[in-house]
Amino acid sequence: MSATNPQAFAEHSIALTLNGQPRQLDVQPWTTLLDLLREQLDLVGTKKGCDHGQCGACTVLRDGKRINACLTLAIMCDGAELTTIEGLADGDALHPMQRAFIKHDAFQCGYCTPGQICSAVGLAN
Ligand code: FES
Repeated sequence: MSATNPQAFAEHSIALTLNGQPRQLDVQPWTTLLDLLREQLDLVGTKKGCDHGQCGACTVLRDGKRINACLTLAIMCDGAELTTIEGLADGDALHPMQRAFIKHDAFQCGYCTPGQICSAVGLAN
């Protein structure tokens, strides 16, 4: 019989700012930020491509810097300020990077475009 630490399986409470809104969330220690965003918070603009850090489709901004949400545990974002593609626009006013992608027809198939835009915003920060 193997010994297990019940704390290892307990949900943890984290507090963060997500797209400008303070949030208090309970997350399991193994939940990735990508799965938290898409499956628990219904922020599906952040895409799951490779799910192991190679494609960038899941790129979001943490404290203004780009990260791969698939390689980041949600619990690692306690206290962070996160911005997803849903948080870039100001109401109906698109972020300048979103406008630039439209102006220069940079969408390709569109699947990973949210990650590309967040990555470009992180580069420009
Ligand atoms: S889904 Fe491909 S890098 Fe995260």
